[in-house]
Amino acid sequence: MSDAGFDAPTYYRMALAPEDRERLPYYAQLVDALANSPTAVQLLGEARPEQRNPMLVLAALHYGALRGDRDLAPLYERLASRTPEEFASRVTAILEARPELVREQLWRATQTNEPGRSAVLAAVLNELHGRGVNDVHLIDVGTSMGLNLYPDYYRINNDEADDVILTMEDLNDNVATSPLPRIHERIGIDLNPLDPENPDDVLWLKACLWPEEPQRARRLDAILQEMVLWPRATRLKGSAVDLIDDALDLCSPDATPVIFHSWVAAYFSSDEQARWRERIMRHVRTRATWIYFEHPWGVKGLDPPPRTGEPPRAGATQIVVCEIGEDPAHWGWAHPHGRWVALSPPGVDSA
Ligand SMILES: C[S@@+](CC[C@H](N)C(=O)[O-])C[C@H]1O[C@@H](n2cnc3c(N)ncnc32)[C@H](O)[C@@H]1O
Repeated sequence: MSDAGFDAPTYYRMALAPEDRERLPYYAQLVDALANSPTAVQLLGEARPEQRNPMLVLAALHYGALRGDRDLAPLYERLASRTPEEFASRVTAILEARPELVREQLWRATQTNEPGRSAVLAAVLNELHGRGVNDVHLIDVGTSMGLNLYPDYYRINNDEADDVILTMEDLNDNVATSPLPRIHERIGIDLNPLDPENPDDVLWLKACLWPEEPQRARRLDAILQEMVLWPRATRLKGSAVDLIDDALDLCSPDATPVIFHSWVAAYFSSDEQARWRERIMRHVRTRATWIYFEHPWGVKGLDPPPRTGEPPRAGATQIVVCEIGEDPAHWGWAHPHGRWVALSPPGVDSA
């Protein structure tokens, strides 16, 4: 996250998309209370500049609760027994009294690995398949635990989420149901790839989820159980810019490398974003396709393509696709966690 214009109270207040503030009254109250807490403001400032994201503080508090902290655990376990205001003021009071609960976790990173984004990725891959892309290698940059390396293993529907079924509302009613391209290599790159077999990594990933969405925690458990049966992925540890060429070297020429990232480039500095774009465009000119889902204000260094119209809902993620030999193009909008998509690829009329 760029450090320029860092304003912790505003970061806290803007941490949730407006539609999520409505859905999640406990976290909405909590981020507002943290915005007014000098301790919470100071702690966010103590994080590494690229990690000055309120989600890191929220995850650190949730992590304490999941580890059974005497003060936090009862609040998070029995959320509904208090009003959102009571929950927020008690959690904030605990943080004020015991800032080490968060300070000790500031070495970590926001690593929310949201499989719901695989529903959006599948929609884009479906569309590419319709354009003749039959075989791909998937390189997931900022892969966290690698949950978005398997868009072909999730079932996706339009209403009820359950286990590994992802729920995504199709606002433009134009998501293709044709099969996905066949995925050959699955390669994840991350500064700190999380290991599904390491209990602390799994706990941190759970802490990055929101306590008002128990179905996401259930889904994570179900995915972790199924994932052991899915094809093994290669995980590369290090920075995206340093490792992307190594990842591409693992890709045989019989399939198109798809370089994908969601909610990652905002953690690069502006310089890194510009270098990343330049590096990827070199590969796009010859052999690769580039897909990203990022919030446009956080990735100005990527020079996102002009958007057609306003997003259908505030706080949306822009979908950008750059096909081989083309320029990056605006392909629509999605909810940050993939709860809905409004796909509008160039040349396709939306309903
Ligand atoms: C918010 S998480 C998103 C995870 C995943 N892309 C998703 O959409 O579910 C951001 C991830 O990017 C990783 N990351 C941040 N900067 C990176 C960099 N320069 N190179 C590689 N990974 C990076 C973090 O470690 C973290 O796992």
